[in-house]
Amino acid sequence: MQTRPETQSTAQITPPYAIGLTTATEETTIAALPVEGRIPDWLTGSLIRTGPAKFEVGGESYRHWFDGLAMLTRFSFSDGRVSYVNRFLASDSFQEAMAKGKISRGEFGTTARNSFWERLRDPIPRPTDNANVNILPLGDRLVSTTEVPQPIVFNPDTLETLDKFPFDDHILGQMTTVHPHFDFDRQCLFNYLTAFGAPTKYNIYRMGFRSSRRELVASIPTKEPAYMHTFAMSDRYIILTEFPLRLNLLGLAMSGKPFIENYHWKTDRGTRFTIVDKDSGEVVKTCESEPFFSFHHINAFEQGDELLIDLAGYTDDKVVRDLYLNPLRTGQAGRATAAVKRYRLSLNKGDATGETLANETLELPRTHYRQINGKPYQFIYGAGNRILDNFNDQIVKINVNTGESVCWFEENCYPGEPVFVSAPNYSAEDEGILLSVVLNANCQKSFLLILDARSMTELARTEVPHVIPFQFHGQYFPAIEPAIVLSQVHR
Ligand code: CO
Repeated sequence: MQTRPETQSTAQITPPYAIGLTTATEETTIAALPVEGRIPDWLTGSLIRTGPAKFEVGGESYRHWFDGLAMLTRFSFSDGRVSYVNRFLASDSFQEAMAKGKISRGEFGTTARNSFWERLRDPIPRPTDNANVNILPLGDRLVSTTEVPQPIVFNPDTLETLDKFPFDDHILGQMTTVHPHFDFDRQCLFNYLTAFGAPTKYNIYRMGFRSSRRELVASIPTKEPAYMHTFAMSDRYIILTEFPLRLNLLGLAMSGKPFIENYHWKTDRGTRFTIVDKDSGEVVKTCESEPFFSFHHINAFEQGDELLIDLAGYTDDKVVRDLYLNPLRTGQAGRATAAVKRYRLSLNKGDATGETLANETLELPRTHYRQINGKPYQFIYGAGNRILDNFNDQIVKINVNTGESVCWFEENCYPGEPVFVSAPNYSAEDEGILLSVVLNANCQKSFLLILDARSMTELARTEVPHVIPFQFHGQYFPAIEPAIVLSQVHR
């Protein structure tokens, strides 16, 4: 068979994983997927995930991986069978884009190009509600979320978009994290809103598990807000880690640049940890370390007069630029990877020193959250890199006490975040399974992989009839009736 030269040259520069960064073309509901291997009998819930899945609208394209319009997926397990649904999220951003045939609202790395008449009609750009980053239980609902604090409620059965989450309060803020912490002793979650102004404030709040009312815990002023995708929580403290990626607020209002391009790396500022007492709201200490960047904290716990903070750390903010679609899709060399770092904060002296816990790199870290968050622990799971400059191409399990790692790898397969699900009546921290949606570039389809979390060996896999574009986060719910979701989340 003859191949045209231009096809050949395209094939040479397009890495196999690039198909995971293309637009999803179909919405499906499948009652029973084909299963290879054996699914644990006790697995009877649902894995619901979100991610960017539409990267073009009309003739326009989003620029950054984080920008694509959201699609939800659900794998449900019962009696060893697996059903599957995927649906685009009908956010306002999505619906406006479909109606206008062009990008309607600015995203992380893309601005909307609105006409003079559109700007006249709507002079203040509307924030995006394209909730493509995480799935959460809030109040008695399941929501899809992004960093603009307007979660979108969906029907967990059909994945149909329902409504905006109705917060019952007036706490201010234009930005948030999609990674609240769940405090099972206090029966509440903690998160914060960044309220831009003079000064900008980080408004840390708590919200009861069955409530929709946020209560302010602390309001911390900052001159130059940092880009923080997550924060840490120990038994007693909330810890905000301000990296030197700092916002030019005037630029955000005036520059016309995409959101993230108004943040600038200021090495000389270092990284500052602000430790806040969960109950009193008081700032008990601030600690400074060398400059570094991170999307994801992993865990934090108190030990004597120290606070230990583990995270997936980068030396700087280069990774933010590496994740623009163009360099990603063309496999441009040199993508930054994250090391598992531990920072020791001295609650007496206020200093912070970092060490690397393992040789393997990883992102999208997960743990046996319900058992270990805020406490000493052993194991981290994440999506890592075996082949230099590849997309995430292996699932990694790291023992933080020994630095030992075990990996799952298959050629031309690209796993997403491995979600840990504990076995019923577990006794060991790693007694359970990992659920990871993997792109198989060999056959250009995605499959759900089920690994035994202790041995990292495969228990089962189930293939869907299409590519699920690379997602960020999701959760496993033992059952999806809202009334019992909260008591069971993060088991
Ligand atoms: Co995240």
